[in-house]
Amino acid sequence: MNKKIQKSESEKNEERLISPIESPSDDKLELTLRPKVLTEYIGQEKIKKNLAITIKAAKNRGENIEHVLFYGAPGLGKTTLAHVIANETGANIRVTSGPAIEKGGDLAAILSNLEEGDILFIDEIHRLRKAVEEILYPAMEDGAIDIIMGKGPTARTLRLDLPGFTIIGATTLASLLSAPLRDRFGIIHHLNFYQIEDIEKIVLRSAGILGVKIEKSAALEIAKRSRRTPRVANRLLKRVRDYCQVEGDGKVSLDICLEAFKVLEVDELGLDYIDRELMEIIAKKFKGGPVGLNTLAAASGEELETIENVYEPYLMQLGFLDRSARGRVLTELGFKHLGLKP
Ligand SMILES: Nc1ncnc2c1ncn2[C@@H]1O[C@H](COP(=O)(O)OP(=O)(O)OP(=O)(O)O)[C@@H](O)[C@H]1O
Ligand SMILES: [Mg+2]
Repeated sequence: MNKKIQKSESEKNEERLISPIESPSDDKLELTLRPKVLTEYIGQEKIKKNLAITIKAAKNRGENIEHVLFYGAPGLGKTTLAHVIANETGANIRVTSGPAIEKGGDLAAILSNLEEGDILFIDEIHRLRKAVEEILYPAMEDGAIDIIMGKGPTARTLRLDLPGFTIIGATTLASLLSAPLRDRFGIIHHLNFYQIEDIEKIVLRSAGILGVKIEKSAALEIAKRSRRTPRVANRLLKRVRDYCQVEGDGKVSLDICLEAFKVLEVDELGLDYIDRELMEIIAKKFKGGPVGLNTLAAASGEELETIENVYEPYLMQLGFLDRSARGRVLTELGFKHLGLKP
């Protein structure tokens, strides 16, 4: 029997070293390594510059900043930026998520408990239910919520004014958001995959915080295999450090780093066996595609959402995969990486 089928999706992600999805073992690490202010936040220069202006202007006017939406692939630093904004503005930040808010009333309760100047961070905001979104619209636009008192013909609505607050929303794909919700954000930033040099800086910064001695060439090697994603970089650093402690003298040199990656089965582009398997399925079973996402999910035993959110964005970034109207296509480069002919 196929061993993979017996495992849950989260178990598989937990094992997958290069998954950009947060895993429980990342928790403590992320808290210590997470940049707290804009100057510690590496890369994404355009976003940082814009945010610095937004924050300064709001401070000068003595106002709260506008509602902000961050979108981008998992592990690129959306949650980090929300906390950075709170630190930089001195605002309290409350954290919730789309799936956590079950009813309109739940959101009304959260909103009415906010204090002047608070930030409400809503992670996975694309997963808000319709009824909850309806409460959020007037809250974001007019700073008020409508509460229905009573039932039936005698019911009446009561408008409750809220203190000034800022919503910061995060989502992996802006297209998942309903247009009316998207329109209510004054500021929208798209986080892209990082430059390798920026990931290298993140590895060096994290090594400094963790007290890991590392050669610059080794930091670059880790950066190259991190899928241009800070979360993956920090996780790889941790695993390579463990390897060096056991197999070497603790210092992360390039040689021992390369050895570690052989054992960890992460290739020079940060691809692991599942990436390669997906590409091979398209190449061999579907002659390079196009193949529909549903079919690909069924053929690989991976979940549709995981393929779309986790594997595809990076494979597309590498130019190995294309999304066409008729499905997924393996590019010439993709074939070449597998050592196959199109
Ligand atoms: N620009 C950056 N500079 C340094 N470290 C960063 C940066 N961005 C992210 N990180 C590191 O990567 C980790 C993951 O970032 P974060 O949790 O903000 O990602 P995310 O975009 O919210 O992911 P998800 O979509 O899974 O919620 C952080 O804990 C932090 O240590
Ligand atoms: Mg997050």
